[in-house]
Amino acid sequence: MSPSRVLRSCHVLLLVLWVSASEDFEWTKNDRGPFYYGTFPTGFSWGAGGSAYQTEGAWDKDGKGISIWDAFAHKKGKILLNDTGDSACDGYYKFKDDIDLMKEMRLNHYHFSISWPRIIPNGIKLDHVNEKGIQYYDELINLLLENKITPIITLYHWDLPQFLEEKYGGWQNSSMVSYFNDFANLCFERFGNRVKYWITFNNPWSIAVNGYETGEHAPGLKLRGTGAYKAAHNIILAHAKVWHTYDTQWRSKQKGMLGISLSADWGEPVDITNQRDIEAADRYVQFFLGWFASPLFNGDYPQVMKDYIGRKSAQQGLGSSRLPTFSSQEKSYVKGTCDFLGIGHFTTRYITQKNFPSNRGGSYFSDRDIAELVDPNWPDPGSEWLYSVPWGFRRLLHFVKTQYGNPMIYVTENGVSEKMICTDLCDEWRMQYFREYINEMLKAIKDGVNIKGYTAWSLLDKFEWDEGYSERFGLYYVDFKSKNKTRYPKASVLYYKRIISSNGFPNQREVETWKRKALEICSSSNQLLAAARRKSQDNKHAEMPKIL
Ligand code: NOJ
Repeated sequence: MSPSRVLRSCHVLLLVLWVSASEDFEWTKNDRGPFYYGTFPTGFSWGAGGSAYQTEGAWDKDGKGISIWDAFAHKKGKILLNDTGDSACDGYYKFKDDIDLMKEMRLNHYHFSISWPRIIPNGIKLDHVNEKGIQYYDELINLLLENKITPIITLYHWDLPQFLEEKYGGWQNSSMVSYFNDFANLCFERFGNRVKYWITFNNPWSIAVNGYETGEHAPGLKLRGTGAYKAAHNIILAHAKVWHTYDTQWRSKQKGMLGISLSADWGEPVDITNQRDIEAADRYVQFFLGWFASPLFNGDYPQVMKDYIGRKSAQQGLGSSRLPTFSSQEKSYVKGTCDFLGIGHFTTRYITQKNFPSNRGGSYFSDRDIAELVDPNWPDPGSEWLYSVPWGFRRLLHFVKTQYGNPMIYVTENGVSEKMICTDLCDEWRMQYFREYINEMLKAIKDGVNIKGYTAWSLLDKFEWDEGYSERFGLYYVDFKSKNKTRYPKASVLYYKRIISSNGFPNQREVETWKRKALEICSSSNQLLAAARRKSQDNKHAEMPKIL
């Protein structure tokens, strides 16, 4: 080889090393700074979200088919207090009122999902399309657009048609790929002239792990060590197929974008100077986010998942890994199938290394060889798992930037809950949560992360899966006991509205007045709610037979 060629290949090698080094996430960099006053880029999109089963109700109305969540919630003992989403927020009937609430906050977008069995009752398009279901989503989309609110639509937020579960085993079966593609195609055909943002799956991690590994969610299967991996594999292939369908058949006409929404907690090493802790934290995030993001952006599962699950499967005497493999054709088919990445994020954990012996059988959780810890000082107002750790959000967003080539990001879910018993509409802790998490997102944008929009989760209090109605994530409080499912603004409505109208946090003096004003106003909402409750109590007493 001539000296100049050697030199050139050295340059290439150096360049490759430099590129890969520059893409490494800096675990040891501790970037927790003070609050940052500033605004978001012009055109940044502010929204709120919800999903079909959690809000719509009307579970058996106007020709809708049964979903796995209808079937699951109707079985006794699956959901706290045996609650169901049968009527939820009655969003199916009240969407016009709900759009008024969105207008009130000046939202730029609304993120919601389409119920597959509402428009294809048994899940199979060739069998039957339910025009009444189509009409509902048509009206919802049209009214949003009339009010200049952009619909961001998720095709699958967990409510698989029950028929597909019973007949084929749901996401355990690869036939879901083409049924889901037919459903998506129908949505593009009927709504795509007006909808420009599509999300295939919301939080596939939970579909796979809670639905097919722990069985805490529908369809309630406990296929430890295999079920989640198999479901995830079919979901990734289904996502890719739908992206290709959109890309080849609809994109040029409809000019929209299609992505996926991945949920991930952040995992911080207990000790950032300890290499074993760093590797454990990396595994935690790779098993959470990388499981899905890595195939879609880089063409295969994270190496660390392949290594750990492969090694443990061999130790368990299995002939092949419990983690399915992609053929080389599939790798190139799935790679590059996200026009944007949706990120759902709520909380953080400290992570350290912990060995789980393979001889006790495999499970998703033991495959990772980690232990999760929390700081007892982290605020924990609602859901047991949800600690407020704003700096974790910025770390996660950085991680995404470095690992997946700085993709376009929409934050599709971020928010905090309170317990059911809490009827205080002056939700100071939620204002605090939004203020700090949104600020960390602003810092991430300043650091170069490509974030285009933010979705507060959620617009309304709603059905919170196996926790029933016991955890309230809403900006608006829903009185589930009232006939009308009356909505009341919590203080955070006004606070979020101010963030939106200022497109961020203009200066300290102004931001401090937002909280004061919001707290002044919410006390009158509190009085309204208390009066409504008293009235309904009185009515109940009035209806009770008198004991003579
Ligand atoms: C993520 C889920 O996608 C959403 O449905 C749920 O309400 C939130 N987590 C809060 O638990």
